[in-house]
Amino acid sequence: MRVLVTGGAGYIGSHTLVELLGQGHEALVVDSFANSSPKALDRVRELTNGWFETEEADIRDTARLTAAAARFRPDAVIHFAGLKSVGESARRPTDYYDVNLAGTVALLRAMEAAGCGRIIFSSSATVYGEPDYLPFDESHPIRPTNTYGQTKAMAERLLTDWAGAEEGRAAILLRYFNPVGAHASGRMGEDPRGVPENLMPFLAQVATGRRDALRIWGDDYPTPDGTGIRDYIHVTDLARAHVAALDRLLTLDGARPYNIGTGQGISVKEMLAAFNRAVGRDLPFEVHPRRPGDIAEMRADASRANHELDWTARYGVDDMVQSLWAWQSANPQGYGEG
Ligand code: NAD
Ligand code: WQD
Repeated sequence: MRVLVTGGAGYIGSHTLVELLGQGHEALVVDSFANSSPKALDRVRELTNGWFETEEADIRDTARLTAAAARFRPDAVIHFAGLKSVGESARRPTDYYDVNLAGTVALLRAMEAAGCGRIIFSSSATVYGEPDYLPFDESHPIRPTNTYGQTKAMAERLLTDWAGAEEGRAAILLRYFNPVGAHASGRMGEDPRGVPENLMPFLAQVATGRRDALRIWGDDYPTPDGTGIRDYIHVTDLARAHVAALDRLLTLDGARPYNIGTGQGISVKEMLAAFNRAVGRDLPFEVHPRRPGDIAEMRADASRANHELDWTARYGVDDMVQSLWAWQSANPQGYGEG
């Protein structure tokens, strides 16, 4: 298929691009590089023989997007581009609604003009908020507790209405749990700007000496070791889920959400222990009070994706931490080192 990939230079987008090209799909990457480096795309070229082109553009630029879509004539769109920091979303709500929601409107207009009715959207488990029950299934109420999550929930609503408005339109809403790890080659991985907000990129920078110690946000949660539990998913498994979703798009009418996780809950302390094994030494940590807005435990029921997308996570915790360390130790400054 010909796939327009917004945000294709980002962490998840670049890994997905490698899988897409490996399966014989062709791609047009649209990215403003607001939170990524063109070097990520050089690495994609290095790792694959597939064909893709790049358009440096902001997704809110409807005219540019429409021209690009009219020229490329995509069969489907995978929409990764967006802002993703929970903390920053509280401080910059206008930017988050503008990029994540207005940007999605602009993209849909470009798709309409190009006659493309199929889209896969990067949603997040954060749309669920506090669990009524665990694991989360796709019928769990949507009650986001932060601005970032609100923008994702509203974009899901928008895509659902859009997909339902005309015959032949389909939207797959992939609710990612916690993506971690890196490409098996050690050539691609997560490269956050500034101080990482998320556990694994922060931990990786402790291991390279860029940060002093991991700060564990609370060890008084009602979990076996008191630290928060999450469903970590290897970024390559997540990338594979997008390729699987492309097939499903061909037979789907309307919108459908899918949880993408392993179903396995892992605590912060368990993740730290696993990463210590990969690095070969015990990394320093301090216990701090809970981070406001954090939830004790999140875990996916991914059985819908298992059955309907014919997709199952292949990689476990050791693959996640080993691939992360292979990437970070070879590229301590991320893509900054050339
Ligand atoms: P990322 O920041 O690495 O990738 C996002 C990409 O979008 C970047 O290349 C960035 O330059 C681009 N971008 C941002 N604003 C843009 C704009 N206005 N116009 C064009 N391009 C723009 O993030 P990621 O981790 O790869 O996440 C990809 C998607 O998945 C995002 O929508 C994110 O909200 C969602 N998601 C991420 C996680 C996670 O933990 N990483 C979890 C759930 C959902
Ligand atoms: C994981 C666990 C923390 C950092 C967020 C978004 C979610 C999705 C993924 C985009 C928690 C603990 C963390 C640290 C710590 N992103 N932690 N010290 O909060 O589950 O999810 O990122 O869509 O939407 O909400 O991920 O990696 O920040 O935290 O102790 O320095 O690690 O308290 O228990 P989170 P995370």
